Amino acid sequence: RQQIIALLHDNIRNIADFPQEGIQFKDITPLLNNPDTLELTSQVLARPFRHMDIDYVVGLESRGFLFGTNLAQDLHAGFIPIRKPGKLPAETLSATYDLEYGTDTLEIHRDAFSEGDRILIHDDLIATGGSATAAAELVEGLGGKVAGYSFIAAIEALEGKKKLPGGAPVEILLQL
Ligand code: PRP
Ligand code: MG
Repeated sequence: RQQIIALLHDNIRNIADFPQEGIQFKDITPLLNNPDTLELTSQVLARPFRHMDIDYVVGLESRGFLFGTNLAQDLHAGFIPIRKPGKLPAETLSATYDLEYGTDTLEIHRDAFSEGDRILIHDDLIATGGSATAAAELVEGLGGKVAGYSFIAAIEALEGKKKLPGGAPVEILLQL
């Protein structure tokens, strides 16, 4: 497993000053590009949640869609997109959260799942934890149970994991 994690790590690249000066962008396109890491990432993401009775995987637009549907298939769960505002066609619930400058909003379809369903929240990366926390709010707001969180990577220094509502397991493959 250590070897697999090291291989995945080697396939995430840093792009300096993107999208803004001073930001080190964590680019997962090499991970997607390589057939071995593409397959391995899916496998290791699913493993901790195999026997947890996950009803749905919620994936966050847009990079949470890349592995989210596959993760759902591996767990024999459904997939639910959480999207940026104005993209979902049916009735939605919205959550707005603070950024360093300004706010962001995420939305979910109100009829996406039933009360009490067990939901796994997935995204490529947890940075400040703002988007994953908003996703948890949306799931709980519709009566769902957050059964876990799944991320490919975390920016350790930002301590986003600490911000997540407690109680559910948080699986992070790589610390960046
Ligand atoms: C990035 C990343 C996570 C989020 C993490 O998405 O893919 O979704 O930021 O940040 P946080 O933990 O501080 O909320 P981004 O908003 O860049 O959009 P994208 O996925 O559509 O590229
Ligand atoms: Mg994202």
